[in-house]
Amino acid sequence: MPHPIKKIVCIGAGYVGGPTMAVFADRCPDIQVTVVDMNAARIAAWNSNSLPVYEPGLAEIVQRTRGRNLHFIGQAEGAKAAAEADAVFISVNTPTKTHGEGAGRASDLSYVESCARFIAQHAQGHTIVIEKSTMPVRAADTIKKILATGNSGTKFDVLSNPEFLAEGTAIRDLEKPDRVLIGGESTEAVRALADVYAHWVPRAAIITTGLWSAELSKLAANAFLAQRVSSINAISSICEVTEADVDEVAQVVGADSRVGPKFLKASIGFGGSCFKKDVYSLVYLCEHYRLPEAAAYWEQVLKMNEWQKQRITYKVIEQAKSGNGTVAVLGLAFKKNTNDFRESPAIDTCNQMLQAGLKLKLYDAKVYFAEFSKVLLPSANGSYTQAMSAVEAMQGVSAVFILTEWDEFKTIDWKAVAKVTQPKAGIFDGRAIIDVAAAKAAGFSVYSVGKAR
Ligand code: UDX
Ligand code: ADP
Repeated sequence: MPHPIKKIVCIGAGYVGGPTMAVFADRCPDIQVTVVDMNAARIAAWNSNSLPVYEPGLAEIVQRTRGRNLHFIGQAEGAKAAAEADAVFISVNTPTKTHGEGAGRASDLSYVESCARFIAQHAQGHTIVIEKSTMPVRAADTIKKILATGNSGTKFDVLSNPEFLAEGTAIRDLEKPDRVLIGGESTEAVRALADVYAHWVPRAAIITTGLWSAELSKLAANAFLAQRVSSINAISSICEVTEADVDEVAQVVGADSRVGPKFLKASIGFGGSCFKKDVYSLVYLCEHYRLPEAAAYWEQVLKMNEWQKQRITYKVIEQAKSGNGTVAVLGLAFKKNTNDFRESPAIDTCNQMLQAGLKLKLYDAKVYFAEFSKVLLPSANGSYTQAMSAVEAMQGVSAVFILTEWDEFKTIDWKAVAKVTQPKAGIFDGRAIIDVAAAKAAGFSVYSVGKAR
């Protein structure tokens, strides 16, 4: 029988585990929270003044909780912490498999499995094991089997408690979540975890479900969000040829309370570490359970995303080739207010342009250029350079390509820019954020996603 949770261990001090446990410690001063990671450098960074994750508000929370009831420790000390823990969160990466069965689609659970082995080896007494990372449905079966190999005196309950935070707003999302989801088979274990969240989340926002529903709900939630972006992007293509305006259409569609206004901004495509991975995971599950029509339905969300990037990039290539073949790329992050470029549309679009033989000048105030250049075609080395400002990137180019909706690009003075670009340069706004009339008045030809030219 589980008892009240007073000692928490979280395995994985990454983007999800770190901020989540910081908020737990902040909101539950009566609970000791210990974060364990096998990456010693990452633990050292969490214990320093330069945290490995940037999120608005995070540093302040870590500052007031670290050493009080929030602790970051390495794997070696983790054994003792796991032995004392009432609850152990698994918050490690579940990337898409690169080899073996399901390669390119299924989630790689090897990190999760190694956590389960660690817990089986070290936990004592009754321990609640909580899936925090996004898992394929029925992953808890695998975890339970591994836990069963532990010493016979230990009892486990496995819960699914997926995290819904988005990058850039992680602390706000954790402090005021739309909902907290807890799925499990033991009512007592579910209640024990709900009591932790109830320190700051209204009980009405804590949804409890069966284990499999919770696992699937996280994949479904991300698939629905990705599908909304692909839906509005599909509409953007038809707007461009019919002279409808995608922002106007989105406003009308979103004003229906059954649809809602959020997540309807047409774009060059979605990126980030979750959407593609999770939709692929869902596609793989559908295929695994012999549901090819459901698999094809969700795969189309991904195909639409690829097509959106490609079709817009073709336009840029065409324009640049009619000029001097040089393009300013504004924005490399997968969305604004983050330096994260995992699965960013900038990766595929830049490589497509490099493959077409164009020269690129890349600018993003937050993305670390040396890291970004590692995802560009090695054969294109020498065909791209880093610019230190948007204006520097646009010097002498025949096309400007906006890929991230950073605020600084919304207020570019196009009249001034017209003096430094090639004459007859084209602007391609992959986020529909610029003042099209002002850019046209400055002499540019302008393409803005979802708007006729
Ligand atoms: C997402 C989910 O929102 C979050 O709940 C989940 O836990 C993790 O995955 P994140 O990847 O951080 O979060 O970013 P999100 O804000 O969802 O944006 C994802 C991508 O969609 C970005 O590339 C963004 O630019 C794009 N997007 C989003 C659009 O193109 N249009 C929109 O209207 C909204
Ligand atoms: P997420 O975005 O899901 O948080 P990250 O890649 O940012 O993913 O973080 C996952 C963290 O989990 C990494 O810091 C990694 O070192 C850690 N990790 C993975 N497997 C284990 C393990 N078996 N034991 C301890 N830490 C692990």
